[in-house]
Amino acid sequence: MTTSTRGDVKDLSLAPRGKDRIEWAAKDMPVLRLIRERFAKEQPLKGVRMSGCLHITTETANLAITLKAGGADLVLCASNPLSTQDDVAAALVSEYGIPTYAIKGEDEKTYYSHINSVLDHNPQMTMDDGCDLVSTLHTTRTDLIPGIIGGMEETTTGVIRLHSMEKQGVLRFPVLAVNDSDTKHLFDNRYGTGQSTLDAIIRSTNVLLAGRTIVVFGYGWCGRGVASRAHGHGANVIVCEVDPTRALEAVMDGYRVMPGVEAAALGDIFITVTGDINVIDQAHMEKMKDGALIANSGHFNDEINIPALEKLATGKRRVRDFVDEYTYADGRHVHLLAEGRLVNLSAAEGHPASVMDMSFANQALGSEFMLNHAKELKPQVYTLPQDLDKEIARLKLHAMGIKFDTLTEEQEKYLNSWESGT
Ligand code: ADE
Repeated sequence: MTTSTRGDVKDLSLAPRGKDRIEWAAKDMPVLRLIRERFAKEQPLKGVRMSGCLHITTETANLAITLKAGGADLVLCASNPLSTQDDVAAALVSEYGIPTYAIKGEDEKTYYSHINSVLDHNPQMTMDDGCDLVSTLHTTRTDLIPGIIGGMEETTTGVIRLHSMEKQGVLRFPVLAVNDSDTKHLFDNRYGTGQSTLDAIIRSTNVLLAGRTIVVFGYGWCGRGVASRAHGHGANVIVCEVDPTRALEAVMDGYRVMPGVEAAALGDIFITVTGDINVIDQAHMEKMKDGALIANSGHFNDEINIPALEKLATGKRRVRDFVDEYTYADGRHVHLLAEGRLVNLSAAEGHPASVMDMSFANQALGSEFMLNHAKELKPQVYTLPQDLDKEIARLKLHAMGIKFDTLTEEQEKYLNSWESGT
């Protein structure tokens, strides 16, 4: 472990490999590259102190380099104890001069000490993935709040937490819900989570998905992505939902829908993507078949009731990297992946760069927007303006070499009129 005023990372000698991988990801992030080139010229974030609590990956490194190119004085910490890519953390510190506090596998105490280290930077802007930075600011570091202009939040879980802070009247600065941009959740949550979750399950177990029964808990954008990719692999997909509209959508998308406890006896692989607690509980785990795999791709590690699993089991051993085998008294085994932490970032590399390109374009443009508009904003949760969202989509299509249509003058006029009918 290397501790310095420039951060706290596992091993600085990993930096060259981290740099190679960061550059590899950059090739698939053309929208962020365009923003970086403009930021370098215009310096829109010049001197702004920013603290970011994000998954420390090759894609996040490219966002950090972009913000720094725009003049930001940025420090970073991990937004999950298991998601850090140690070579990337090392490269951020020693190749790019961005203080980074993140070590894969850090315990909870270290995780929060890293959060406090980035808050010691006395930020004017925050960037969160899951709201831990903002919630720490509003509980134990309230002295720093007067200096904060505003923040950005990356993920669904974080946005839900922020909305409950706003509802309770405790949120003290404006936050942009990056997750709510169309160019974020329609792509990152759906195609990113869909692919990276299955990638992590395959990498950690080498299981064949074809012909297996995969039970997906939650049919939000992440659940839709996971279900569709599992179906594409030839799995039989069961969806468990609590929202009637989403459950109906899953039925009409062609999946079986049933209560979780019924699905528990049928599934080979269980994946939670709900953002809620104890979604897979003792009642489910008691019914599971010998050999079942359980994984979570939601933000926090409380979607699977792990204490109940520990009680149910008579033995536990690590059988592969990121795979814990629990043995029941009757001899059945169930396997928990990545200790119930978000499997796609713990046992694989998270979403591919191409999709994070759009998510992090929203973060970069969001930080510029926040800086320019904070005075007009109240301590509430905001979405990015739609024109920025559309511009990101336009730039992505352009980078992909895809042309698309525009309305004719006549069509535009027609859409804005009401007089003519049948
Ligand atoms: N969230 C999901 N995938 C990610 C990635 N590759 N980088 C940062 N945050 C992520």
